[in-house]
Amino acid sequence: MTDQNQKPIGVFDSGIGGLTVVRALLEKLPNENIVYFGDTARVPYGSKSPQVVREYTQDDTDFLLSKDVKMIVVACNTVSAVALDVVQKRANLPVTGVIIPGADAAMRSTKNRRVGVIGTVATVHSNAYANELKHLSKSVHVFSKACPLFVPLVEEGWMDFKATEMIANEYLFPLTTEKIDTLILGCTHYPLLKKIITKVTKGMVTLIDSGEATAGTVEKMLNEQNLRNTSTEKPNIQFFVSDAPEKFTAVGELFFGQKLGVVKRVSIG
Ligand code: DGL
Repeated sequence: MTDQNQKPIGVFDSGIGGLTVVRALLEKLPNENIVYFGDTARVPYGSKSPQVVREYTQDDTDFLLSKDVKMIVVACNTVSAVALDVVQKRANLPVTGVIIPGADAAMRSTKNRRVGVIGTVATVHSNAYANELKHLSKSVHVFSKACPLFVPLVEEGWMDFKATEMIANEYLFPLTTEKIDTLILGCTHYPLLKKIITKVTKGMVTLIDSGEATAGTVEKMLNEQNLRNTSTEKPNIQFFVSDAPEKFTAVGELFFGQKLGVVKRVSIG
């Protein structure tokens, strides 16, 4: 094993949601060191124009490069949808977003080739998931729906609330009437709504967690490039944010499933 193997994986997101991806990564790759950056000062990205998201993405990438990471995982669906090429051009490293892994997993799951996609306004408008699904199979039918209220509901901790169920019903009814059998959760926050989404889709739809699918892709990429960290030492997981860390620390546990430890504020851009 070389020094390169022990370098951290860099993960970034518009804010807190990418912790669902870090959680999935750690389950699959428990030895890896990780540097996480959440752009909490400029979140949300999902309601912003592609041009602005692309500008922010440059700063996010440069921050991770300054931490000498061995690969970059774009945990944010919005960035993966509209700015993955920005990261790829800037970083001379292996890079993955969440769109291709999520679309791949959906195509492996669907039986009737009717797939739903939910995400932020920017992700849905970009058609990134739909394009990737069509690239994988010309005969797939894709039904997409932006669900902008899901992000604030999750950040409020309203996962099990009647109001959230009613809103989920409004958003998802048009997709279930199209008889989708698979639904891509195309936003970092949506895995926390799995229970309610399963309820309103009456358990008839397989939910694809793009973050989990991405962890599989990261494992494959590290293996292919001989970059796995095989050290048995406890991994070092570092968290950086661009606004005051208190809210991130408090709400982050919900996403991460365990205590976060130290979260540092940094200035970027
Ligand atoms: N992380 C974003 C995503 O996955 C959701 C939050 C935001 O809009 O910035 O698209």
